[in-house]
Amino acid sequence: MVKAAVAVELLGAGLLLVATAASCKPPSCNPSGRRLARPSATPSLGMSATVKSPSASAQTDTPISAASLYAIFYLPNGSNWSFPLSQGDALHSHPDFDADKNATVFFVPGYTVKPTAEGVRLAIKAFTTKHESFNFLLLDWTLYSGRPYVAAAMNMGQVAELLAAWLERLRAGGLAAARMWLVGQSLGAHLAGKAAAAMAVRPARVTGLDPARPLFWFGSPLTRLDRRQATFVDVIHTDGSWRGIGVRANIGHQDFWPNYGAERQPGCHSGFSGAYGEG
Ligand SMILES: *[C@@H]1O[C@H](CO)[C@@H](O)[C@H](O)[C@H]1NC(C)=O
Ligand SMILES: *[C@@H]1O[C@H](CO)[C@@H](O)[C@H](O)[C@H]1NC(C)=O
Ligand SMILES: *[C@@H]1O[C@H](CO)[C@@H](O)[C@H](O)[C@H]1NC(C)=O
Repeated sequence: MVKAAVAVELLGAGLLLVATAASCKPPSCNPSGRRLARPSATPSLGMSATVKSPSASAQTDTPISAASLYAIFYLPNGSNWSFPLSQGDALHSHPDFDADKNATVFFVPGYTVKPTAEGVRLAIKAFTTKHESFNFLLLDWTLYSGRPYVAAAMNMGQVAELLAAWLERLRAGGLAAARMWLVGQSLGAHLAGKAAAAMAVRPARVTGLDPARPLFWFGSPLTRLDRRQATFVDVIHTDGSWRGIGVRANIGHQDFWPNYGAERQPGCHSGFSGAYGEG
């Protein structure tokens, strides 16, 4: 089945992503060396629910505009077209965009990961070279995904809502939710899940590549990637060890644990291990 083949592809891409992701390097794992505050409350209501952290609440006061978030559409000939989300459904008028393709993939990179990062390139390659029936787009939220981690995590909620609003516009323009496939890496996995949950109609699929653990473990299911957010949710865990920074639970319809999800990746130290001591 196609799904299985894609899962295998993703597995490869996911592993490479994790191996190359900037979020994996010690300085960014826990830049301050301090323990992070636990989220004090567990909000349970809808999409406005955001994990609160006292040290980070200031950053969330800055409104994020759709004009400062970009979609990058990777064209079949290898070039790309970048446009702000505020341009709404401009995508529909692009000659290379075909809403009837089997799936339109929206890739959401993780914490500090730039669209030009090697791991992202590999993911793009996995989708665009072997599955010509996909449209492949990337959400460029690098203006908000940078250090410190807590700020990126707090920005994530607003970015997710803007992404959802844009996806709704694409849907109104003729791209069926049943053909939308969100793929998120690390913090981007939760962003993708939140965006999916904020839509009026569930998208076909959300795939989480090594969803990040810090600040999400104690949140309500709606603050992180969760199987209720799409028709099908699959998760590839590669950093779920006790000391790792990945989510350690089965949160999708299907969860993959290559090497038991606990393999220490090259160049990675357990930066966040002290943040949460839950068993
Ligand atoms: C790729 O295709 C787009 C339009 O579909 C075109 O504008 C662009 O020039 C092409 N790039 C190359 C390198 O052929
Ligand atoms: C794409 O969809 C068509 C029918 O809509 C199907 O025949 C084809 O096998 C699908 N291809 C992939 C790669 O999913
Ligand atoms: C988009 O294409 C330009 C020109 O080829 C290239 O310099 C840039 O790195 C590409 N952007 C991404 C995100 O791949």
